Amino acid sequence: MLSDSTHNQHYMDYHKLFCNIPKPFAFLDLDQLNENIRTVKSICRNKAVRIASKSLRCVPVIQYLLQTGSPFQGIMCYTASEALFLSKNGLDDLLVAYPVWDEAMIHSVACAVKEGKTIILMVDCDEHVERIASIAHREKVVLPVCLDMDLSVSFPMLHFGVYRSPLSTLDAFLQVAKTIHESRSVRLDGVMGYEAQVAGVGEQTPYQPLKNLLIRLLKKHSVRRCSRIRKEWIDALSQEGLTPRFINGGGTGSLSETAKEETVTEITVGSAFYSPTLFDHYRNLHYQPAAGFALEITRKPRSDVYTCTGGGYIASGAAGSDRLPRPFLPKGASLVKMEGAGEVQTPVRLKSKLHLGDPIFFRHAKAGELCEHFNELIVVSNGAIVDRFPTYRGEGACFL
Ligand SMILES: Cc1ncc(COP(=O)(O)O)c(C=O)c1O
Repeated sequence: MLSDSTHNQHYMDYHKLFCNIPKPFAFLDLDQLNENIRTVKSICRNKAVRIASKSLRCVPVIQYLLQTGSPFQGIMCYTASEALFLSKNGLDDLLVAYPVWDEAMIHSVACAVKEGKTIILMVDCDEHVERIASIAHREKVVLPVCLDMDLSVSFPMLHFGVYRSPLSTLDAFLQVAKTIHESRSVRLDGVMGYEAQVAGVGEQTPYQPLKNLLIRLLKKHSVRRCSRIRKEWIDALSQEGLTPRFINGGGTGSLSETAKEETVTEITVGSAFYSPTLFDHYRNLHYQPAAGFALEITRKPRSDVYTCTGGGYIASGAAGSDRLPRPFLPKGASLVKMEGAGEVQTPVRLKSKLHLGDPIFFRHAKAGELCEHFNELIVVSNGAIVDRFPTYRGEGACFL
């Protein structure tokens, strides 16, 4: 925990550093990012790390991570068009983590694979496999696919996990694996199981001690169950003569647990690098806020309220106050409950004395979504602005 004077110094440093940049702007603190890279690498020493591009949405940042070397290898993309865009930017081993149905899109992927690119499509049912196989057959190419297993847990009255893959039993999983095996136009390259209820749910949210306790118990149960299921299902696959190149699991919030699973060969990590506020309430996560945005104070409606221009950058997911951006510098700044972060005006409650034109620095609730609101990240390191990285939006790219 940083002291008040360190926080004040941090605010003053950023204030000085960015004094000539028109607000609002987004920034990336390279020193904090490097710290997060070190933390991720120290946790998953024995696994490869696939970078979740949706949580970065900035090609130079993805390239920066990859050039730091092992264990970073491969990208988890969120749409086929994004994978093609990254491929054109020289990146490869692109796993599209969510199924693609659009025929023209699958066709474009088939053409890229034909040219020697590695783009892997996600499947979770026979229809997915058959559609990809028929397009691949037409193009005379064999497309690599990844089978998505459902790792959610259903209790009476509670579904703990996400509703994505229908493959929740070994039989159903093996059935689709068999369809892939029997096709001459697709091949099983990987298996993915995303334990969202472990990776995406914090167990240390303030003011809910009982719920936190329940979440901890459920997460513990899920970690054991995921590990057992993954092993059983992958063993069953190999008995059928199928040995995928990679077994992908996890995310930022489950890194240390997933890293202990022998069956898993690679872990996906994205959010850890920017470290947005949704990851503040996990017991064992210690990442540094590396990305954020600054708004300008343009009004003072009261002595303890400063109103800024812009700010309504709300995160996706079940709507709630945890999806709002949070002012973090100066320390003690908070949003006004009745207004939240507004489309054009965001009032901030703050005791310390600031002036019109001063910045207030915020963190987004989610990682990559920040980049959908800004064309570039102003990159700082060692007390200086060292670069400007175009975001996807800055490159005119918009995928979802
Ligand atoms: C399939 C999949 N794997 C992994 C992740 C983890 O990403 P992050 O590290 O950004 O939390 C996600 C996030 O939504 C996901 O959908």
